[in-house]
Formats: sequence, structure tokens, C-alpha cells
Amino acid sequence: EAYRKEIEGLEIVTPQQLEEYRIKFLGTKGIVKSLFGEMKNVPNERKKEFGQVLNDFKQFAETKYETAKEQSAGNGQQAVEEIDLSLPGDAMQTGSRHPINLVRKRILDIFNRLGFAVADGPEIEDDWHNFTSLNLPEHHPARDMQDTFYIHQNPDWLLRTHTSNVQTREMEKGKLPIRIICPGRVYRNETISARAHCFFHQVEGLYIDEHVSFADLKQTLYFFVQELFGKDVKVRFRPSYFPFTEPSAEMDISCLICGGDGCRVCKHTGWVEILGCGMVHPKVLENCGIDSNKYTGYAFGMGIERIAMLLYQINDLRLFSENDVRFLRQFV
Ligand code: PHE
Repeated sequence: EAYRKEIEGLEIVTPQQLEEYRIKFLGTKGIVKSLFGEMKNVPNERKKEFGQVLNDFKQFAETKYETAKEQSAGNGQQAVEEIDLSLPGDAMQTGSRHPINLVRKRILDIFNRLGFAVADGPEIEDDWHNFTSLNLPEHHPARDMQDTFYIHQNPDWLLRTHTSNVQTREMEKGKLPIRIICPGRVYRNETISARAHCFFHQVEGLYIDEHVSFADLKQTLYFFVQELFGKDVKVRFRPSYFPFTEPSAEMDISCLICGGDGCRVCKHTGWVEILGCGMVHPKVLENCGIDSNKYTGYAFGMGIERIAMLLYQINDLRLFSENDVRFLRQFV
């Protein structure tokens, strides 16, 4: 009788309440089951009477369940109707392009328009294609400029330190003229910091034909930076040294951040270095079977990260490889 009262007083609205009710009264360990379990303790002569009361109660509890179930289904229906279907939905997360990819594409697009074809090469390279063919014989001090990862099993193998290996491989094919642009990942054994990493990405260019001059190189690179950074950018070439080019130069552009007035990015010089370049050393041409009396060529190489950092004002190289979505999401 007490249970009957309890049930009458119950308010079952939510599906959760309904389920709680079912478990408490009608479940396999519920109250109805346990009352039937009491049957064995009832003296024989009262069993009939007790059974009738129990059956009534069971029916009562079940009816309550059924009506509550119908009602709460009705409530669910109502809830559905309250949803405003004209509201805009949640946007789907679509992902975004990596800034390195975006900048690489921009660089390649510019050189494609100038007639450069994209060329590719292996990241695991042998000593000849990464160093020796490029006028960097064993024990050459300039090898130390590029701290190299060697492959343990074979000292002749290494992770390429620059994409110049693609240039050697292309020259060795012997088809001239050559006008290629080589994007790719390169590796150097450097301590990871805001300004250095053990891998990064380069784009290198190579043009070999009859009568290619340093003036061609300068004009091509000048066009390139104007396309990439805008018409106002100024350039300057400083004499430099690379074993595979002679003469060699480094190219600076006027600082985009401060416009040349001096800031932290350009270390208060007004200029930032963006690439190395030069005329391909005759010895490199000969190493690859090209007649250096007939042909000349120029080459240049730049780091994609460095350019992306300038374009997007990113101040820490590590952001490019940490894959933090809060960083990546900002690029479209
Ligand atoms: N290979 C050079 C480097 O990785 C860049 C470079 C390429 C310089 C071509 C001159 C000519 O630093």
C-alpha cells in the first residue's frame, strides 16, 4: 500500500526519470520482483489473497510505466518542435593549408610563369650528389657549414643538407638547356630553437644554357621578389661564398616590417637576407658532364620558412612543425 502511494506521488517527465522508475519497480531486482519473492514466507491459507494483491499492484505499476512512457514520448515530440530549423547550422571544420605549403605554392607559381619546371629528388642522398659533385670534396671546410646527418649503416649515405642534389641529378641527365625549380625538405644537425631546426624546406632554382649571365640572375630574382612581396620592395646583392657558384652572392630585401627604418626583424639594418645565389662553378658543370666552355648557368636557393616568417610575421620556427591547430587554423 505504501508503494502504491509512492508511485501515485511520482512525477515522471524525462526519459531518465522513466528509466529510473522502471529499474526501481519493474526491473529484475526491482520492488515488484522482490514482493513476489516474499510469497514463500506467506502461510498457505493466505497465499491466494496475497497473490491477488500483488498482481493488482504489479498491474498498477506497469500501467503507470506505460502512461508515463507515452507522456514522455510526447514531451520529446514537443522538444523537437521547439528547435528552430531556420537557424544556421554549426560550421564544419574543414582544415586549412599549412603555411609552408601556401608559400611554396606562391614561389613555384611565380617561377612557373618564367618557364621553370618543377624537379624532384631523394631526401636520402649519397655523398656525390649532395657534396662532391658540387665542388665540396671530402674534408672541404665548407662541409662544416652544413651539419650533416649521416646514415649509420653506410657512411656514403646522408640526409640531404640542401636541394642542390636535385640540380646535380638533373645536370647528369645531359638534356640542355635546363630551367628547373626544386622544392623540398632538407636536414641539418642543428639545435632546435626559435631560429634553427633539424629540418626545413628549401626552393632552389637552376638555369643552364648558352650565354646565361649574372644580369639574367639578378633580373629574375628581382622580378621574383616584386611578385612575392610587392612592387615597393628593394633588393641588394652582397658578395658571398659558396663552393658550387662563382661568383656568389647573397640577396637582401628591404625590411617589410619597418620599411627600412630599423626593427628587431632586420636587426636594425633595414635589410633581411632571403637567399644565396651565383653562377654555377665551371667545375660543377664538368663534374656533371656539361661543357663549361659552351654553357653557363646560374643557381639560387632559399628557405621557405624564412620567407613565410617574413610574409606572416611569425617569430618562431618551431611553430611550423608543432602542428598546433590554433596556429594552423589561421592560414587559408
Ligand atoms: N645550397 C645553398 C644552401 O643550402 C643555397 C644556394 C643554392 C646557394 C644555389 C647558391 C646557389 O645554403
